[in-house]
Amino acid sequence: MLTIDLTNKVIVVTGGGTGLGRVMTEHFIRCGAQVVICGRRETVLRETAQALGPAVHAYSCDVREWESVDNLLSRVVKDLGRLDAIVNNAAGNFLAASETLSSRAFRAVVDIVLMGTFHMSRWAGAYWIENRQPGHILNIVTTYTDTGCAFVLPSASAKAGVQALTLSLAYEWAPYGIRVNAIAPGPFPTEGAWSRLMPGRDFEEQYKKRLPTQRYGRPEELGALAAFLLSDLAPYLTGAIIPIDGAERLQGAMFNYLAQITDRDTLKAAFAALKAATRKE
Ligand code: COA
Repeated sequence: MLTIDLTNKVIVVTGGGTGLGRVMTEHFIRCGAQVVICGRRETVLRETAQALGPAVHAYSCDVREWESVDNLLSRVVKDLGRLDAIVNNAAGNFLAASETLSSRAFRAVVDIVLMGTFHMSRWAGAYWIENRQPGHILNIVTTYTDTGCAFVLPSASAKAGVQALTLSLAYEWAPYGIRVNAIAPGPFPTEGAWSRLMPGRDFEEQYKKRLPTQRYGRPEELGALAAFLLSDLAPYLTGAIIPIDGAERLQGAMFNYLAQITDRDTLKAAFAALKAATRKE
């Protein structure tokens, strides 16, 4: 039987305190890894580390800031003695009509998703090259990076940038033994994502109807794929963008359906309610 073995590997998961980042962390430690989870909310990180046990190490970090990333990864190398993989999972997303987006709103998402991924990748790549070590960068993109997507313009733009970064670095750093891949998850409902991206039960009913497998993704399916990609079972796998979505993307970009099922004013009201529910003014 093939088993995924990540024994002794040190893996850093950005946004690892909650949602799919936490799910991946659980899988990595089950395969023997030491996992550093990082994010902006220390309490959440501490709670997750406590719940998952001593193989999980919580560090606070704001991936939008180079100094914060520099500080985090220097400490990881010093405290844990090595660095094997980075999982760029931290993200920001919300539904909004694009003509209403402020400059700050667009930037808020781009800073986390694209700048954050760049900062982590830049630091780790330089470290591995300088130390003549192999390494792996695993980015989390979406199924709409090729198509664009209505009502999530900042995320579609930033994730398309992360996809370009993935492909660019995979080629450039292949001679150093650094693999760079991306997973493009489809519908995996987590509290963080669904509270921002599902404007209510009626919308969800419509959304579910378009799922060809008639079900959402199960978190463990994503965790298993991520663990496999980071393992020594996949040494020739680099420069890949791997969708895991039950073929949902083949119907068209994820949130385009919203424009088809109701009028724009209803949508804008639903988006405003989501914003109020998920954001402290
Ligand atoms: N619709 C429209 N604009 C929004 C918004 C929404 N739902 N939520 C935030 N914004 C705007 C704010 O109004 C603000 O712009 P303004 O100053 O012009 O009003 C700007 O975005 C920044 O908001 P702020 O809350 O200060 O930014 P932040 O950096 O703390 O938050 C977000 C970033 C907006 C992405 C926030 O939702 C976040 O941190 N999310 C992390 C988790 C997440 O999104 N997970 C989703 C996984 S799918």
